[in-house]
Amino acid sequence: MTHQPKDNILSIILAAGKGTRMQSSLPKVLHKIGGRAMVNHVIAGGQAAGSKHHVVVVGDQAEQVAQAISAEHENIQIFEQHQQLGTAHAVLSTRQAIESFHGTILILYGDTPLIQPQTLQRLIAKLDEGNDLAVLGFEAADPTGYGRLLTNADQTDLIAIREHKDASANELKVNLCNSGVFVFRSEHLLGLLDRVENNNAKSEYYLTDVVEIAKADGLRTGVLICPEQEVLGVNSRAQLAVAENVLQRHLRQQIMENGVTLIAPETVFLSYDTSIGRDTLIEPNVVFHTGVCVDENVHIRAFSYFENCHIQNNCIIGPYARIRPESVIGSDAKVGNFVEIKKAVVDQGAKINHLTYIGDAHIGSNANVGAGTIVCNYDGFFKYHTEIGANAFIGSNSSLVAPVKIGDGAFVGSGSVITKDVAPDALSLTRASQTEKEDWAHKFRTVQMREKERRKSDEA
Ligand code: UD1
Ligand code: MG
Repeated sequence: MTHQPKDNILSIILAAGKGTRMQSSLPKVLHKIGGRAMVNHVIAGGQAAGSKHHVVVVGDQAEQVAQAISAEHENIQIFEQHQQLGTAHAVLSTRQAIESFHGTILILYGDTPLIQPQTLQRLIAKLDEGNDLAVLGFEAADPTGYGRLLTNADQTDLIAIREHKDASANELKVNLCNSGVFVFRSEHLLGLLDRVENNNAKSEYYLTDVVEIAKADGLRTGVLICPEQEVLGVNSRAQLAVAENVLQRHLRQQIMENGVTLIAPETVFLSYDTSIGRDTLIEPNVVFHTGVCVDENVHIRAFSYFENCHIQNNCIIGPYARIRPESVIGSDAKVGNFVEIKKAVVDQGAKINHLTYIGDAHIGSNANVGAGTIVCNYDGFFKYHTEIGANAFIGSNSSLVAPVKIGDGAFVGSGSVITKDVAPDALSLTRASQTEKEDWAHKFRTVQMREKERRKSDEA
């Protein structure tokens, strides 16, 4: 069931925690899964659930977090929480945003990047069912450390949330735990938060205390239960790897549903934005960094590596190809083993089959670039452009010293170092011409064998 929210939605994303266990100088929420910072996954999840307004609560590295967010999202408000006095205090640090907003308020954590938009929509729907607030819960395999959801017998009514450190022996037996995700009607939130106190085991202002306060006010409080995997929080590098694994499985599943064949899905690594067309076949051990678009019916052979590039229909790429940023490989082109392509446009039907470097270049349609061709695009200071015309033929083991232009249909003789433009349909070669000395090898061998015999008899 998906639910189209009727209301205006504001997401408040808590991300001020220090993230000490990451052992990192990078703020925790900027660590990436699927090539995207966790906090940006959370914002995108909120957006996909229908949220139009987002505020993020950050700690002392506010500027760095704000920068990473604004690289991907517009109009995100950042609030600084200078001292981390608890989750209720964190939400209260956005008071100004809450005061000026009317609608549904969603509370999310910046380090919990795997929640599905449909789950958030179902949680929001709890308000339409008559609740004034609702919390997302899960049955924990190991509930240690989590807040426990204390409910009525059929888990429809939430009575209180008890933090682990404050729980009685009986409450600790409860496996139903708080994910931290809440949804509120805006009109109640500040009134509830302002009454939260910090007389508990951690001397923190707990957001979870709003449940009992709401109950005492006669408000209705609901629960939605989701799979534990969706609310996995990342506190350490090991948990980051688990989250990456969950996301990768999800991304692979999605592209297979879209009509892509993965021979060994568990060996193909995708980014959050990888786009792959129908009937493309991907062999084992292929990596897609961000910004990659592969069109239809492409065959990607094993051990190939892609970054920010576009591969058009019916290409054959790899094995062991590396396609670097700002490259476009036109339809029906072939890029073979140990070929590196950087910032180059390869037109339709061109072939670059073996052991080649192409950078800052344009390769015309149906050109053939022979084995071992190197485009020398860099002089240690600047980069220069190389143009290879349509139907041109570059002989093996040639160096093309940029800037240089090979005309349409021209030939470059194998082993040449080309430093000047080549006219269309010309042949250009720069190697020494071939000479031959008749019977030379036979004479050489005869002389050397005789000398060897002489030295042997001298020694005896
Ligand atoms: C919190 C919940 C607990 C729940 C658990 C789920 C409370 C009191 N407890 O506990 O019920 O089971 O999450 O993982 O809410 N943060 C701030 N400022 C603060 C404190 C926290 O921004 O002052 C942020 C953190 O960066 C983090 C999130 O809020 O993203 C949760 O904080 P954390 O300290 O991890 O809470 P837990 O003790 O794990
Ligand atoms: Mg936590």
